[in-house]
Amino acid sequence: MSITTGDFRAKITASTLFEKKQRHEIITCLTAYDYAGARLVDEAGIDMILVGDSLAMVMLGYENTLPVTMQEMLHHTRAVRRGVKRAFLVADMPFASYHVSQREAVRNAARFIKDAGAEAVKIEGGEKRARLVERLVGAEVPVVGHIGLTPQSVHAMGGYKVQGKTLQAVEQLMHDALALEQAGACVIVLEGIPREVAAMVTQELEVPTIGIGAGPECDGQVLVFHDLLGLTFAPPAKFVRRYAEVGAAISNALLAFKDDVKSGGYPSDAESYHLPKETLAAIQSRAMAKRSIGD
Ligand code: KIV
Repeated sequence: MSITTGDFRAKITASTLFEKKQRHEIITCLTAYDYAGARLVDEAGIDMILVGDSLAMVMLGYENTLPVTMQEMLHHTRAVRRGVKRAFLVADMPFASYHVSQREAVRNAARFIKDAGAEAVKIEGGEKRARLVERLVGAEVPVVGHIGLTPQSVHAMGGYKVQGKTLQAVEQLMHDALALEQAGACVIVLEGIPREVAAMVTQELEVPTIGIGAGPECDGQVLVFHDLLGLTFAPPAKFVRRYAEVGAAISNALLAFKDDVKSGGYPSDAESYHLPKETLAAIQSRAMAKRSIGD
């Protein structure tokens, strides 16, 4: 059953997402990191595209998200911007780009909007980021919050662990979500928390929640592009559903190319350019003339 309503091509904004929550219409979100990926995601009608700092791992091969820089995030956001017409485009602020001072955070966030064409930035952390969210929103930078398992806190958390399992942790998550909403966040990502907790947070908030490893009761769902497509090299997390095995398809194509080149099967005559008939005839008659002089 399709639950899509309204004009499929209408530009998605933060208000559209808010209205979708009010209408109980599920929000779709995926990451994208380059022009081709962004076009495919946008043309599939996905509502929200996140240039996630997960690109540190899936695009750049780092072990975690911490090393990715402002420059790298801006570079990928610009490429994605060129591929997106309809979706609401959000860029992740990288680790340490919003932690030092509010002033620096606002300057960095503004670069995503002004230089790279993002429509919002995402920052990780709850209650402790509330004042920063207020400041960013006051500077006309829409903000997406991100709580629960926040990958930029990998060392502080002691690994990638499901959060919000004790009563105290559940209460803190609820405080975090409400503090972000009050501060003006337009969407809140809930990552790696029990579905029951995500359901309670989602019910409590007016702004939409987007879940990843947070169960089906969130207002929307996000996955990492490469996870969904089977383009990663490690076993996927429990919540990942692979909709394709693109990595295997690419490997097969590469092996077939290698075999064809080695066996002389590529390129064929049909895949080669040819001289015009007149030029070929002229070359042949010149060669014949040379040969007859030699005789
Ligand atoms: O960086 C990322 O891709 C993310 C999402 C998975 C929520 O933060």
